[in-house]
Amino acid sequence: MPTIAIISQKGGAGKTTLALHLAAAAHDAGRVALVIDTDPQATASQWAAWRQDAPPEVIDSPPPRLAAKIEQARGQGAEFIVIDTPPHADSAARAAVEIADLVLIPCRPSAFDLSAIQTTAKLVQLLRKPAFVVFTAGSPNAPRMYQEASELVEGFGTTACPLFIPDRAAFRHASAEGRTVMEFEPEGKAADDIRRIYKWTCLQVGTLVGSSKKPARKSSVHKGKNVA
Ligand SMILES: Nc1ncnc2c1ncn2[C@@H]1O[C@H](COP(=O)(O)OP(=O)(O)OP(=O)(O)O)[C@@H](O)[C@H]1O
Ligand SMILES: [Mg+2]
Repeated sequence: MPTIAIISQKGGAGKTTLALHLAAAAHDAGRVALVIDTDPQATASQWAAWRQDAPPEVIDSPPPRLAAKIEQARGQGAEFIVIDTPPHADSAARAAVEIADLVLIPCRPSAFDLSAIQTTAKLVQLLRKPAFVVFTAGSPNAPRMYQEASELVEGFGTTACPLFIPDRAAFRHASAEGRTVMEFEPEGKAADDIRRIYKWTCLQVGTLVGSSKKPARKSSVHKGKNVA
């Protein structure tokens, strides 16, 4: 049962968006997926409440309880766990990294955001965890910018994920309605980005994309009336 930690000291980097969508993609592929929300802002938990707790399941946990919560989830059949973490929080990020099989570091490909990931990069190096920087919310068509950003993060001793999650309006619309981009626009580019990065993540942790236990099913989700 892989556990993926999503960390970034920088606020608004796209942590919660990536955490929820990776778990949702796992669910869509037929796996029992869980998001553990360690952020006191409780954004992921709020999103779950907006969708009336339709899967993927989101539970909250203070960082010191993470190990116990994961053990409990494993006992209850969880097959794919994603930990969402707060910004500006060394101890929560550290607890998530310590317990994870893989660390993903969302980062906007801008100079200020790139510079800020050095702290996060040092943490994953210290704890010797496999980690990738995932560029989020950048221009969809800027290969040179991604190339330069990748070289920069490699200079910090981390590796850039070869897949990006570019700026797509679907993410903002979907999250404001308590939905995923796969539910909002199943054939859209954002949904495609997520399915691809989910499959890539599975490959990194050596796990099945789909479940061997049950067929994939779609979640039917109430359309909420929330604002972003
Ligand atoms: N690829 C994207 N395209 C467009 N908008 C995005 C994308 N990724 C995230 N966003 C938007 O950016 C905002 C911040 O994203 P998110 O809440 O996931 O960041 P975060 O790192 O979890 O923030 P915090 O540090 O406050 O927890 C949200 O409004 C979200 O919808
Ligand atoms: Mg967040």
